[in-house]
Parts: sequence; structure tokens; C-alpha cells
Amino acid sequence: MNQVKIFAPATVANVSCGYDAMGFALQALGDEMVFTKTESKGINISKIEGADIPFEADKNVAGVVAQLILTDSNANFGLDIKIYKKFIPGSGLGSSAASASGTAFAVNQLLDNKYSNVELTKFAMQGEMVACGSAIADNVAAAIYGGFILVRNYEPLDIVEIPSPSELMVTVIHPQIEIKTEDARKVVPQNIPVKTAVAQWANVGGLISGLHTNDFDLISRSLVDYIAEPQRKHLIPYFDVVKSAAIKNGALGAGISGSGPSIFALSKNKDVAEKVAEVMDSVYKYAGIAYNIYVSKISAEGAKII
Ligand code: HSE
Repeated sequence: MNQVKIFAPATVANVSCGYDAMGFALQALGDEMVFTKTESKGINISKIEGADIPFEADKNVAGVVAQLILTDSNANFGLDIKIYKKFIPGSGLGSSAASASGTAFAVNQLLDNKYSNVELTKFAMQGEMVACGSAIADNVAAAIYGGFILVRNYEPLDIVEIPSPSELMVTVIHPQIEIKTEDARKVVPQNIPVKTAVAQWANVGGLISGLHTNDFDLISRSLVDYIAEPQRKHLIPYFDVVKSAAIKNGALGAGISGSGPSIFALSKNKDVAEKVAEVMDSVYKYAGIAYNIYVSKISAEGAKII
């Protein structure tokens, strides 16, 4: 195989209670990338559409991840990379994670699947390091594995795939402001009382159990974040209004997607998810804030060949 064209999904990280530990992949949104082997070693990024990101391989998430894998595998070829971004960095939808995990997946195809998904996640985490200064796994693991994932442990990395109800839908609204993950991480408290920690890990357990057993009420009760959301919500215009409108109109719960500014809501079927989209939409329309909105299934697949 000399060339591969791939799709890498957008992802929602944290899923309210699972800060840095949970994420899921979206079916309706993601980047496309084309990777072509070259005789000369090294990485050449020949095309970027849809985002203002660096062409220099050592400053570009895809370039860095590709080089790491080529070096690790002692590959005898270089790469030409074309990137078609469908959603921008700073959205909270895992834009850098899509680049990083899409690259790891694609280069692995060109290496005849040398690496496992957990190894690909580790490479992709280095892309997150370039993008935001922290090697976080929640977005990249979701984009590689698909579905819901739990990062049970960072060192050694342990990714657990969580089944979820097939009817589950997500609505995401992306106000057109940029929040840098690096900045949003600074407002998350580094120390929390044990009482808060207990409430948080109990919700993570509840969410995972609810996803496993298709228990929508339990999923709904568990979508609560006591750690990041109370601090970060002030960075997002009308967050409380959007969240309560979504829940009032049937969403199981709503919260900040990754580090924001996107807001996600989970719903038990498509009709509810579309109703939730309408009300989220009307909040920002009324407030005069530009936005994009997506209604999507949870993607069972991660990055894939197209
Ligand atoms: N878990 C990370 C955070 C995701 O919330 O900072 C960043 O995309």
C-alpha cells in the first residue's frame, strides 16, 4: 500500500464526570487526510484546507505523530500529507486529536498494521502534547477506538472500550469562539476535597454502568461534573442557559465538550436530539452568537479508511 485516505472522527472528551478519563467518537463530523509514501525520508505537508495550522512538520500535530512512528518503526520511506480539516482547533471537539489519531491510524496502515490500538494511542498522545502541552488520552483514544472509551490508567496506558445504547444520540453546539485547551486546563482545580472526589467517581461508575445496561435514567443522573465544569463554564457564553434548555427539552444531560467552548447533550433518540438542537440553536440565535450545530450518532468506529 502506497497511499491511504482516512476519516478521523471528532470526539467529545470528559463526558461531564470523566475529566481526562472518558470520551466518545461522533459519526457526523471528522477530518479527512491523505498519506502518500515518498522515496525521500521525512515529512512533507503539501496541503491544508479548513484551518490555519502550520505546514512545518515539526510544528504540526500530524507531522510530529507521523515522524515519531516512522522513526520508531525504522521505516524506509517518507510521507506526503494532505489535511482537510472539517472543524477547527479550539472547538472542544478534539480537532488536534483527529489529526493525531488519524495520522497514527493511517501510518499504521502503511506499515501493514504493525502497532496495536494502545500503541497508536500513545503516539497520538504526543500530538496532544504538541497541541496543548499535555499528553491527554481521552480524545485520541476515542478517535482511534471509536464508541465510548475509558482511560482507566495513564502509566501504563490502559484503555477500556465501553458499550453504549445503539439509539444514543449527541447534539453539539459550537459557538464560534476559540478556547485554548492549555488555558482551559489552568482553571481546573489541582486539589479537591475527598467529598467532591467521592461524588465525581460515583458518577463515573454510574455513567459506565448506565451505558452498559442501556439504563437512560442512570446515564442521566450520572452526567454531572463537580470538578471542571463549575470553573470552565464561565468561559462559555450562555452555558447555563443552553444546558438547562437542553435538559428541559428531554436531553439526558449536557455539559462542556472537552475543554470547550462546544456544549454537548446526550439524548435517548434522534427525535429528542433534534428537538435539543432546536432549543440550543435558539439560545445562540437570540443572543446573536455565531455557531455550528451537529446532531450525530455515537460512532462505533474510530479512524477508518475511506
Ligand atoms: N480532557 C481534556 C480537558 C480534553 O478537558 O482538558 C481536552 O481536549
